[in-house]
Amino acid sequence: MSLVNMRDLLSKAEKGKYAVGSFSVANMEMLMGAIKAAEELNSPIIIQIAEVRLNYSPLHLIGPMMVAGAAKAKVPVAIHFDHGLTLEKIKEALEIGFTSVMVDGSKYLLEDNIKLTKEVMDEAKRYNAAVEAEIGIVGGSEDGSENLSVLCTSASEAKRFYSETCVDALAVAIGNAHGTYLENPKLNFEVLDKINKDVDVPLVLHGGTGISNDDFKKCISLGIRKINIATATFDSVEKNIRKLYEQSEEADYFKLHQKEVEGAYLNVKRHIEVFGSENKA
Ligand code: 13P
Repeated sequence: MSLVNMRDLLSKAEKGKYAVGSFSVANMEMLMGAIKAAEELNSPIIIQIAEVRLNYSPLHLIGPMMVAGAAKAKVPVAIHFDHGLTLEKIKEALEIGFTSVMVDGSKYLLEDNIKLTKEVMDEAKRYNAAVEAEIGIVGGSEDGSENLSVLCTSASEAKRFYSETCVDALAVAIGNAHGTYLENPKLNFEVLDKINKDVDVPLVLHGGTGISNDDFKKCISLGIRKINIATATFDSVEKNIRKLYEQSEEADYFKLHQKEVEGAYLNVKRHIEVFGSENKA
């Protein structure tokens, strides 16, 4: 079990027609809670951190901890660098032992995105790590600092992108957005269906927070094999801590620690149950 390549997790998910959750963590407590949920449900899991979060959780500290957590886990765990923006940080993650990296060239012209992705593929090959790329524009932004409008992925561009890069996973934009949705998201399943039929690659859904269980299931039936969840876990941790302080005069640091672990655990567990990866370890 333990630390595995994301490519293997996604190819099994393709055969079994389910999705693997990719859960963001910011500290040891969240990592412990996420792995605990996956172990309890006997599920594979991906644990990730995005480059924009490194101001809070420096890569040289959290990266080795994530890899060590995976190595000791009783279920297969891939460690993923989410929304890699600079070659420098992507290389650092690979050097630490991440088994997967995302290169986010979605804001560039297709040709430039292809060029950048190929550079990262060459680098990742040296470590046998998987590579995820994105085309089209997922709304919002990973840390809420930008409010990008959605630009749905074009199936023909996805086809061309994949034929030129052969990435291991491709993130699509189908009306999904990072952060908290202001209105219920309306996902474009027709676009997803077309991409799924035209391009033979595991597809990734970003912006998982706030998507309904029915929509998750529909996405999985149309080829989504990796689903990213960040905000919902941060919110679950924060709410759990707040409840502790509201209910108890005697909260101390160690109770706080337990509530953080539990907050992450509850949210990860809830999503694994929907994604269908339970008992697929
Ligand atoms: P949410 O914060 O909306 O769950 O998005 C997570 C994500 O897509 C990280 O890449």
